[in-house]
Amino acid sequence: MPDLRGRGLTGCAKDKQVLLEIQGLHKRFGEMSVLEDITLTVEKGEVVVVLGPSGCGKSTLLRCLNGLEPIQGGDIRFAGKSLTDKNVNWQEVRQQIGMVFQNYELFPHMTVMENILLGPLQVQKRQKEEVLKQVQELLDRVGLLDRKDSYPRQLSGGQKQRIAIVRALCMNPQMMLFDEVTASLDPEMVREVLDVIVGLAKQGMTMMIVTHEMGFAKAVADRIVFIDSGKICEIAEPDEFFIRPQTERAQQFLNIFQY
Ligand SMILES: Nc1ncnc2c1ncn2[C@@H]1O[C@H](COP(=O)(O)OP(=O)(O)OP(=O)(O)O)[C@@H](O)[C@H]1O
Ligand SMILES: [Mg+2]
Repeated sequence: MPDLRGRGLTGCAKDKQVLLEIQGLHKRFGEMSVLEDITLTVEKGEVVVVLGPSGCGKSTLLRCLNGLEPIQGGDIRFAGKSLTDKNVNWQEVRQQIGMVFQNYELFPHMTVMENILLGPLQVQKRQKEEVLKQVQELLDRVGLLDRKDSYPRQLSGGQKQRIAIVRALCMNPQMMLFDEVTASLDPEMVREVLDVIVGLAKQGMTMMIVTHEMGFAKAVADRIVFIDSGKICEIAEPDEFFIRPQTERAQQFLNIFQY
């Protein structure tokens, strides 16, 4: 896969404006500490890939960022506003931070178009004409415009996942979170979904991506964050991380993937 870092066309990755700031985040489930003292900033246009063994807390971290999990300590700031403020409007935040999960949660009784239009029309109360134009452009971009009237059951897993990405993008988020979006796909469908994410990176979308696809991680990431047992072990540029991991844990992790 070609190296996408240093992409200069949009200039977005280089303007050094912090979009997300996580400071000393602690997360517990009951007595069990799942994330400890997570400190990380993500700049506008930056692509951060989060790696780590199963159960280390990757999904939980993403879920904390858009309020799906309460946190027990630390602060999260997004676009200059604290998300730990008790008056935070999560519905608004979730429009700014789009999230796509492993299991595309499309409504089965709605067509592709109806699924996508729901948020922009019902939640954002935007003009239908304007939204339709955007949806058509995005569907075209992911190669699925001709499936706009299909129902989810009529689509492959890869197609459903691309629709889920379009649905999130139609809310015009400032940042996207992807949690193992290819994990439940057949190998031949993985590529088509990853290509959509690569396209977003090229356009300068700010993203935090959890994946087990190491080739993709290496190609798309500006920085790799390696988590083990709820703690950040390493933050490094992909070339550094994949060639010279600093910790034994990261080396072991990469050995499993034969990287
Ligand atoms: N709702 C929950 N209640 C209790 N424990 C939870 C809950 N969700 C996650 N956990 C625990 O928190 C830890 C981190 O889970 P998480 O799903 O964030 O891991 P992960 O790194 O995403 O793993 P994977 O690579 O398998 O997806 C695990 O020990 C998990 O069992
Ligand atoms: Mg997970």
